[in-house]
Amino acid sequence: MSEQSPGAKKIAIIGGDGIGPEVTAQGVRVLDVFRERKGYPLELIHYDFGADRYLRDGVTFPEEAQRTIREECSAVLLGALGDPRVPGLEHARDILFGLRFGLDLYCNVRPVVCLSDRLMPLKGRTAADCNFTVFRENTEGIYIGIGGQFKRGTPDEIAINEDLNTRKGVERIIRAAFEFAVKTGAKKVHMADKSNAMRHAHELWLRVFEEVGQEYPAIARQHFYVDAMCLYLIQDPSQFEVIVTNNLFGDIITDLAAGFQGGMGMAASGNIRPGAVSMFEPVHGSAPPIAGKDIANPLATVLSVGMLLTHLGYQGDEALLSEIVKDAVESGHATQDVGGKLGTKATGDWVVAELERRLG
Ligand code: NAD
Ligand code: IPM
Ligand code: MN
Repeated sequence: MSEQSPGAKKIAIIGGDGIGPEVTAQGVRVLDVFRERKGYPLELIHYDFGADRYLRDGVTFPEEAQRTIREECSAVLLGALGDPRVPGLEHARDILFGLRFGLDLYCNVRPVVCLSDRLMPLKGRTAADCNFTVFRENTEGIYIGIGGQFKRGTPDEIAINEDLNTRKGVERIIRAAFEFAVKTGAKKVHMADKSNAMRHAHELWLRVFEEVGQEYPAIARQHFYVDAMCLYLIQDPSQFEVIVTNNLFGDIITDLAAGFQGGMGMAASGNIRPGAVSMFEPVHGSAPPIAGKDIANPLATVLSVGMLLTHLGYQGDEALLSEIVKDAVESGHATQDVGGKLGTKATGDWVVAELERRLG
């Protein structure tokens, strides 16, 4: 562990499972460059939480680490969690939801930017047709874990997961989406719900979207049922600038949208509570089949580091990292999933060298 220095910004690093540690290692190298070349007072605290640790000693996400992160850290960089040796995913839930719920990180911000024409899979479209941001509610919905099973394994079995939507929770994510639209000059905010089927919970979304939206008369608003929105996304992603939606739909939409970006290896995210310690991670999971082979794409992690630096208040670094990632893809200095010829580590080498060169 590095020395503590006054004014240091502590960043917790949790590589996690599968490809998580491999891609996170490249993100850490990028942070190191910013510390060394630009003098950022970053202090990295490495944690070994994940399936290995859980299987070894039963530890998932201890209270002391949670306290350190909550009270001392500025941000968390996470890889991914999920391991076939832990089919119940109990460690993953403790850590991932421990961070999202425990820190009340209510904005899951997932930029859907296609950085290169080479990555655009839609016929007749270019990268310029895909540039929007999804605001996924991150602390409620069906993710809260309220429910249960009854008469498990019998013909009369019952399984329930409750979908929790609070006025406060719905309002704050919708407001965050409109505020983001104001800040970025977006002209329209879309909301995805399923109020035709989930008439109680999603009527709340519909009503709050209207109410909050009226406070932003310069920004157009439109709601789509989420099934229709999936169609419209594929038909013409260029119509979207900001999408706000609930926890589950946001999860699904952003994997679909990762297809516009070049796949899971290109999709970055922030789990953000404005002005407070927040967590940054690629959208992808632990991808067990490709773990340990040095083929996982680390660029989503590099882009997530860019979002982390913005959250810490550093201007311009996120855009610089996006440029470098774009150039990595376009010059073939990237992994196979995006048409490159390099491995995970060599892609990181190229990004680091390019970053050092551009920072001077
Ligand atoms: P996944 O995102 O791990 O993989 C989906 C597909 O994308 C696979 O084909 C995989 O090979 C590919 N892929 C993912 N990341 C890639 C990368 N960086 N480079 C190249 N290809 C990449 O999703 P999954 O297979 O559904 O889930 C695997 C495990 O990860 C599960 O346990 C799941 O619960 C977990 N998961 C965790 C997180 C998280 O920690 N935030 C997110 C998603 C899934
Ligand atoms: C994600 C993941 C998680 C989610 C899983 C691992 C619980 O898919 O971060 O997108 O659904 O939020
Ligand atoms: Mn997901």
